[in-house]
Amino acid sequence: MIDQTNLHEHFARVFGVAPDVLVRSPGRVNLIGEHTDYNDGWVFPAALNLGTVIAVRRRNDGLLRTVAPRMNGEDEAHIDDLRPRDGSEWARFVRGVAALLRETGCLSSGADLLIDGDLPLGSGLSSSASLELGVAVALMTLAGGSIKRTALARLGQRVENEIVGVQSGIMDQLAVACGMTGHALLIDCRTFDIEPVPIPSEVRVLVLDSAVPRTLAGSAYNARRAECESALRKLRAAQPDLHALRDVTPDLLVAESWRLDAVEMHRARHVVTENTRVLDSVTALREGDVRRFGQLMVESHASLRDDYAVSCPELDALVAVALETPGVLGARLTGAGFGGCAVALVTAQRAAAAAATIVEGYRQATERMGQVYICTPSAGAHAYWGAEAQRGAQP
Ligand code: GLA
Repeated sequence: MIDQTNLHEHFARVFGVAPDVLVRSPGRVNLIGEHTDYNDGWVFPAALNLGTVIAVRRRNDGLLRTVAPRMNGEDEAHIDDLRPRDGSEWARFVRGVAALLRETGCLSSGADLLIDGDLPLGSGLSSSASLELGVAVALMTLAGGSIKRTALARLGQRVENEIVGVQSGIMDQLAVACGMTGHALLIDCRTFDIEPVPIPSEVRVLVLDSAVPRTLAGSAYNARRAECESALRKLRAAQPDLHALRDVTPDLLVAESWRLDAVEMHRARHVVTENTRVLDSVTALREGDVRRFGQLMVESHASLRDDYAVSCPELDALVAVALETPGVLGARLTGAGFGGCAVALVTAQRAAAAAATIVEGYRQATERMGQVYICTPSAGAHAYWGAEAQRGAQP
């Protein structure tokens, strides 16, 4: 595997010259606040110590050449004719970021890129946002440009929405762009206000990979989004100044529930209650009440399973196994759902033993080999080596 320590040398071997800039871009895990971002609500993710690494060097002939050993792929396009939709699955992200940077005048030369890392791909830990932000920081740093982190996050989201066709919200890109070592981020997805909150030293975050591929993720995700929008339209008949489900209070939802069909009611109830859970859980964490935080994670999972219908039997089994494991304070599915990962909060002393117990319990329950990572919240995407590294994204 190529990582931060041997990236420079691998680049030199692949391209025959030294790179100009080295970049690390994390994945993310969301601790609580799921499917709230595109409803203008709150989320509470952390950037991971698992991530994408990118080495880049300027080219003077306008070619953008990418080598990505983990994707078994190579790609080549000219910066004047990027055609991002024509790229292979992963190359669409690279070309898409380059195309949007070109539009904003931040891409004036070609480049050679080597992309690798240790973040599990397609597991719900935002490998695509990690790639988007990593490529954006690499190309922007190479060009000597300076774009605000929130604007880089928006650029990554536009690649998903306009090029890949998933109507995803802004959480993943903001978490990857703005992550802070030792902290999770309380993000208001309406205002983009971000408050870093320290993760207490007596707990660890476990990422639990169910090993179930997220096959339905794109279409089912877009369907959930459409259901939220139709619930909102109907609730607006009662209160025309509602901008998003974030503005719906629990009382309003109960009083006007007769306007909604059963599916809309379930989806809206998840969003309304989840927003409250995020704010309550952050208060609990700030007060050092990690048990309360854990309980709210459990409630979040139930709501995602029963009201939002984005869990699956394996994720339910994984969460159940985690909750029976000594030291675990709470667990829930994380990310979009439909497979992928769960997240658990566990006491620091029990973390290593809990990881092993959960893998074994999950194997017995489902006959699947899951993976557990003990994670440390880390910094957002940044250039860590190269003459231009200091000129990276501005906070
Ligand atoms: C995916 C999307 C995010 C968010 C989550 C669910 O990760 O990319 O924008 O909606 O699902 O919380």
